[in-house]
Amino acid sequence: MNDVVRKVRNLTTDEKLHLVIGDKLGTTADGSAVVGTTEKYVPGAAGNTFAIPRLGITSVVMADGPAGVRIDSTRKGTNRTFYCTHFPIATLLASTWNSALVHDVGHAIGDEAKEYGIDVLLAPAINIQRNPLCGRNFEYYSEDPLLAGKLGAAYINGVQEMDVGTSLKHFAVNNQETNRQNVDVRISQRALREIYLKGFEIAVKESRPWTIMSSYNRINGVYASESHDLLTTLLRREWDFDGMVMTDWYGGSDAVAQLKAGNDLLMPGRKSQYDQLQKAIAHGDLSRKALDINVGRILRLMSRTHRFQGDQYTNQVDLKAHAAIARQSAVEGMVLLKNEEKTLPMQGIQRLALFGCTSYRWIAGGIGSGNVNSAYTVSLVEGMKNAGIAVDTVLQKRYDSYIQDYYDHAAPPQGPYARFLSVALPKEMYIDKREIARLARQQDMAVITLGRLSGEFIDRSIRDFQLDSAERRLIEDVCETFHAQRKKVVVLLNIGGVIETASWKAKPDAILCTWQGGQEGGNSVVDLLTGKTTPSGKLAVTFPNNYEDELSAANFPDDAPQITFNRDKAEQISSERKNIDYVNYDEDIYVGYRYFDSFGKAVSFPFGYGLSYTTFESRGASVMQKGDVVTVSVMIQNTGLYAGKETLQLYVAAPKGQLNKPKKELKAFAKTSLLQPGQSERVTLSFDIHDLSSFDEAASAWRTEAGIYRLFIGNSSNDILSSLSLRVRSYQKKVSDILAANGQLNNLK
Ligand code: GLC
Repeated sequence: MNDVVRKVRNLTTDEKLHLVIGDKLGTTADGSAVVGTTEKYVPGAAGNTFAIPRLGITSVVMADGPAGVRIDSTRKGTNRTFYCTHFPIATLLASTWNSALVHDVGHAIGDEAKEYGIDVLLAPAINIQRNPLCGRNFEYYSEDPLLAGKLGAAYINGVQEMDVGTSLKHFAVNNQETNRQNVDVRISQRALREIYLKGFEIAVKESRPWTIMSSYNRINGVYASESHDLLTTLLRREWDFDGMVMTDWYGGSDAVAQLKAGNDLLMPGRKSQYDQLQKAIAHGDLSRKALDINVGRILRLMSRTHRFQGDQYTNQVDLKAHAAIARQSAVEGMVLLKNEEKTLPMQGIQRLALFGCTSYRWIAGGIGSGNVNSAYTVSLVEGMKNAGIAVDTVLQKRYDSYIQDYYDHAAPPQGPYARFLSVALPKEMYIDKREIARLARQQDMAVITLGRLSGEFIDRSIRDFQLDSAERRLIEDVCETFHAQRKKVVVLLNIGGVIETASWKAKPDAILCTWQGGQEGGNSVVDLLTGKTTPSGKLAVTFPNNYEDELSAANFPDDAPQITFNRDKAEQISSERKNIDYVNYDEDIYVGYRYFDSFGKAVSFPFGYGLSYTTFESRGASVMQKGDVVTVSVMIQNTGLYAGKETLQLYVAAPKGQLNKPKKELKAFAKTSLLQPGQSERVTLSFDIHDLSSFDEAASAWRTEAGIYRLFIGNSSNDILSSLSLRVRSYQKKVSDILAANGQLNNLK
């Protein structure tokens, strides 16, 4: 009998009830923007399970988040610090299209978690970026489930190499912050399986996460954390997941239904849950057998942790080495969107005029549980100075005092959720054209940074997606004035989610989407601007021309960002509010490029797009199939002047058949190593033939229709380099008919 089973047998019922509920919820001293923290083991961690010393049961300590370990950087009783490295946001990591790089970032974060005594890192978050206004898109990877799943798996494997667990989240269909704890997502089984669950399926099968975090929302009428369909029939029986499931903090409503559904651990833990479970056991509403299953999974998780193994953690982390990883990984995920007449890399540029408040207050990442308490953030102006590039100090002084004055007088966020919010970014400072003319005469180039700050708890508004008048005027005036002096203008996008670009992108000479690159962001940007490294990022999300072009725009809370924590789910509402109490995923599978590409809708910058300083050529594409594995092979050569990396993307178009399908879908991708000018590399892109199947709801089966499939090899979804054909036989695999849109309940009886 193994040790876990023995422990379960020796536990009292009361001890078992404590084990399935988180230990407690602390709040940080200043109530900083976190949902749940505990002071008990590692101050600032998000939560932990109960310990039962008499049986050698240790606590499992959990901390956020995807961009780095989030714990308090200072502690009572000591003046030493406990900083963590702020790595780039997930959206940037996805834009690297580099699984090995994402793995290495995960490894470094896992190392920090281990040394700070964290047993499970509450990451990665791989929800689909369904709509640009979701506040947490910065924490998510992509509009495409293959890219999200593959890179999520790489991240998990990296973290878990350190014997630190992960919590793949938020399972599932958590694509808005508005009323996230209650909103009912109404969605077809096909969209669920092909788009919103597919990334989780890939990550579960390719990385074996120790835990999964169920999401807050309901899916077709049932809370994800209470859905036996989702957490047992699909996750465990169909995908063979062998780990533990925890709720999101305060997620769901019915503790008994959660345990029965296969949600083993209720975080961060409330007394009312203990009372409810105690009654359920006493009345036989929850069987002891079911409870033992939940407890066994929690103990199996515990037995894997360093804390249980008695490993001492040092509280010493190699911040210097990890800062270097943060800097390099950020460089690979920044996307060059425009580069007229080789504006970049900067040649012979010694002096710059830096415009935009964000140039001086760089944004490392997003708000909420995904933030990181790091020692510093390198701004653009610091990055320039580190590279020996002078910036106009008169302008810098004006910005510094304008920004300081703004924050000195900015009203802190108001209301019951103030601690979750952040002071809005300052409006762009007005600079009159005479001053700009002076700068255009004296400086070699202008750089304008546009910043956006978003995060957990609140979705963005359409205004936040647009540029405001101050930003438009700044771009207008600077471009007009610098161009009059035959000087160039570069725009940087220090953002966490897509913004409007179509109406102004013709004005500047170059545009670099820097995303939010973590604490080394300013240095990473300058590494690209100076040509120390060639950009190799590709968009993992579409930049539409207008917000209204998004197919999901009609079914997203576009201007009613609401923070609603109705703790008591029983709170009845008179009439259901569209996009707040329920949301219809009417766009179905047509998310992102699957929509724009299939319906011929023009976009500003397409999925998979990204420029380089060098050029590449591909030749000799071929395809072979061995068993179920299809492998496309192609030679890629650097035909330009700079060393660089290229990402090849393999899209597949199915022949016309019974099921309507997107025009083409991403089925594989690969990034070259760093190719020197003239150097070639053979790239292989592989996928399983059954990945071509679509979900047929009528048959409740994955189905591939026979015929000739077209394989497109591209360096962007709209730049196809070569195409091949593949004859495919029909295939069908029946699966459980679950999560249907009629809201049936499938709780364990
Ligand atoms: C939050 C987030 C989740 C996080 C957890 C602990 O509400 O939704 O991503 O891991 O609580 O902070």
